[in-house]
Amino acid sequence: MKKITKAVFPVAGFGSRFLPATKAQPKEMLPVVDKPLIQYAVEEAVAAGMTEMIFVTGRNKRAIEDHFDKAYELETELGLAGKTELLNEIQDILPKHVSCIFIRQSSPLGLGHAVLCARPVVGVDPFSVILADDLMDPKPGMPGVMAQMLEVYEREKTSILAVKNVPPSETNKYGIVSVTPYKSKLDRVNSIVEKPAPKEAPSNLAVVGRYVLNNAIFDYLEKVGKGSGGEIQLTDGISMLMQSEPVMAYHYSARRYDCGSKLGYLQATVAFGLKHPEVGEAFSEYIDEISQAD
Ligand code: G1P
Repeated sequence: MKKITKAVFPVAGFGSRFLPATKAQPKEMLPVVDKPLIQYAVEEAVAAGMTEMIFVTGRNKRAIEDHFDKAYELETELGLAGKTELLNEIQDILPKHVSCIFIRQSSPLGLGHAVLCARPVVGVDPFSVILADDLMDPKPGMPGVMAQMLEVYEREKTSILAVKNVPPSETNKYGIVSVTPYKSKLDRVNSIVEKPAPKEAPSNLAVVGRYVLNNAIFDYLEKVGKGSGGEIQLTDGISMLMQSEPVMAYHYSARRYDCGSKLGYLQATVAFGLKHPEVGEAFSEYIDEISQAD
């Protein structure tokens, strides 16, 4: 069976929930402690064995391309100053066998459209989609969420969506699935709908930003047309795909931070700050101090 080596990162969105911080920089470049969100996402893909990182970008996204490129001036300066550790760190952002491909999505027509833009590069293979906003933090010793999903894909060979239960009042923020239990941590998807109002939602099981998709999804994305919010929705493409082949919902093991929201981003910053090798201890003392202050 063909191994999944291609990861698609839709990064053309405006990040309007984070204005003014995202006025002139991509939301995917917001750092959690010292690494931008997109780097966490790419590291998860690399750890899952993927070798081709396909970024679907838009205007104002140059910083993402630069981040994964060589930085000649900076590298020279760090070298001259003898800052070898920092130099190695910025040179080793990506292992040598990994390549980056950038495609422009010229108008923001939705997540489904962004994924469709990657078709010429993905070709005929199955592939993964990672939304960098959804920062995943597996327990120590556990593989990343994408690696967990690929293991399931290798057994089941069907498209797989990462899912988690959300409060019923929040169904209107997610693709929501109804499912039939199948195996441990794995359900069969019976239906999927984009951002239903709590009253109309078939369940409170939400899709979060990790997908492994069979290639047939592209044919459906060509056909779906505009859906929720007037956009071409990946959810609608998946709903059509399900008519011809099974789609699974995988209950991943990790804590997920919604870094597209201010609260989620702050929570991620605290969690990652507390376990950071350089500042974790001092940060923890500081948190204790301010929580005790009256
Ligand atoms: C997108 C998808 C939605 C999914 C969510 C996960 O929505 O359209 O189906 O549940 O990502 O984060 P967005 O957050 O881009 O509005």
